[in-house]
Amino acid sequence: MAHVRAFFDPRTYTLTYVVWDPDTRDAVVIDPVLDYDPAASRTWTESVDEVSAFIRANALSLRYVLETHAHADHLSASQILRRRFDAKVVIGARITEVQDVFKGVFDLGAGFAADGSQFDRLLADGEVLEAGALRVETIATPGHTPACVTYRIGDAIFTGDALFMDDYGTGRCDFPRGSAAALFDSVKKLYGLPDETRVFVGHDYQPDGREVRFETTIGKSKTNNPQLRASTTKEEFVRFREERDATLAAPRLLLPSVQVNVAAGRMPAARENGHRYLNIPINLMHPADELGEPTPKK
Ligand SMILES: [Fe+2]
Repeated sequence: MAHVRAFFDPRTYTLTYVVWDPDTRDAVVIDPVLDYDPAASRTWTESVDEVSAFIRANALSLRYVLETHAHADHLSASQILRRRFDAKVVIGARITEVQDVFKGVFDLGAGFAADGSQFDRLLADGEVLEAGALRVETIATPGHTPACVTYRIGDAIFTGDALFMDDYGTGRCDFPRGSAAALFDSVKKLYGLPDETRVFVGHDYQPDGREVRFETTIGKSKTNNPQLRASTTKEEFVRFREERDATLAAPRLLLPSVQVNVAAGRMPAARENGHRYLNIPINLMHPADELGEPTPKK
């Protein structure tokens, strides 16, 4: 059975996982975090240093970094692990659709190819990745974003932002090309796995201030998940999810995160003065004129 170690980033409520085979010590990392302070626009590596130290202390061979999707709440540290451990970075094949949308939003220009080539490999639904002795099955779970995937390794699945803890719910579906109906179908697909399947979630928001929890099972999710249990109808879920999403604020690191993560975790190229810049659109969702005064929507 594959071993799992979780790392929790309290700034973004993100879970990063190291999964390894105890015999061969082949390992993968799922969803590593690059620390980022938006006010100072500064990055640092405390979170990924902790993961790196664990890999070294346990003499693991890191084969792949697996992204469940292009995250909108934290910058990915996948390229740092790639450099440190000579690992490959992979993501779901439909990342090209997400790149296509955000290439326009961030005005990334002709130099940015929306073909997934920034990643070492793209994984289609059902595709199996051999990570040394670890067998990683890709399960497409669109809804939060079109490119979201769940990774299945032995008796464990890593759901990213599709399915959260069984006392919390599911991921939001209001990002570009997100879909509550698609997320319902995705979670129902996961609910078709054996009840004892271990479920490791991509975030834990610690509802009511409880301690961090990140592991449940398919059986418990089907019985308890307050947003989508086995008996929930598609109509009920879609109505709930869309109403809830309409009340949610933009994630604090939305624009920096997505801009870096559609480039597989690479910063924009340095300009002539040697500095790197993010392109942050102003009033993207709520049009305004050149003085910042809101204009009527057309
Ligand atoms: Fe996400």
